[in-house]
Amino acid sequence: MQFFLDTANLSQIREAEELGLVDGVTTNPTLLAREGGDWRSQAREILKIVDGPVSLEVVSEDAEGMIREARDLHAMGKNVVVKIPMIREGLKALKVLRGDGIRTNVTLIFSPMQALLAAKLGADYVSPFVGRLDAISRGGMEIVSQIREIYDNYGFDTKILVASVRNPMHVLEGALIGADVATIPFAVIEELIRHPLTDSGLASFLADWKAFQEDG
Ligand code: E4P
Repeated sequence: MQFFLDTANLSQIREAEELGLVDGVTTNPTLLAREGGDWRSQAREILKIVDGPVSLEVVSEDAEGMIREARDLHAMGKNVVVKIPMIREGLKALKVLRGDGIRTNVTLIFSPMQALLAAKLGADYVSPFVGRLDAISRGGMEIVSQIREIYDNYGFDTKILVASVRNPMHVLEGALIGADVATIPFAVIEELIRHPLTDSGLASFLADWKAFQEDG
């Protein structure tokens, strides 16, 4: 399973990169706006830090505008993946961008049929938003499981990128289902690393060792 970091925050990206856990990064207009400043220079910095795929999202709502933006974003770096929203105009843009050889990540996916349409039109990634689905009690991971089954049935090589991750269980269940990628907020990366029994176990090992050294 590939781990992408779901943030536009440079210090979080640098810290996770040092851990060797960053296979890529996903951003969206909200994440970039949260960092403030010039979004282009922010994106360029991310592209410098991370060798893997970096998703940058278009903000146009018409196919022509999306295509224009996608070509501009693509020119920013070889590891750019252009995020296209799962709307009719986005599907029209998808076909053109595939012809241009521009990698795409179809975002705001909330149903397996949306994921099927995106795959049929050649999306490189689809991003089902599991946390937002769980918030309205529509099992987010069930949608991921259905997408996996459909893609396997027909041999689609579109990658399933579990998004809107809220906790380690989303990552675990995504891995058990066989999703290709999970894009993970920095705080959840920390939760994946920690376990209370690890902390207490280490503390007791070291306490016993300290007592042993003092008795020696
Ligand atoms: C992927 O990059 C998505 O934009 C992101 O995971 C959405 O997460 P949210 O539901 O917390 O906004």
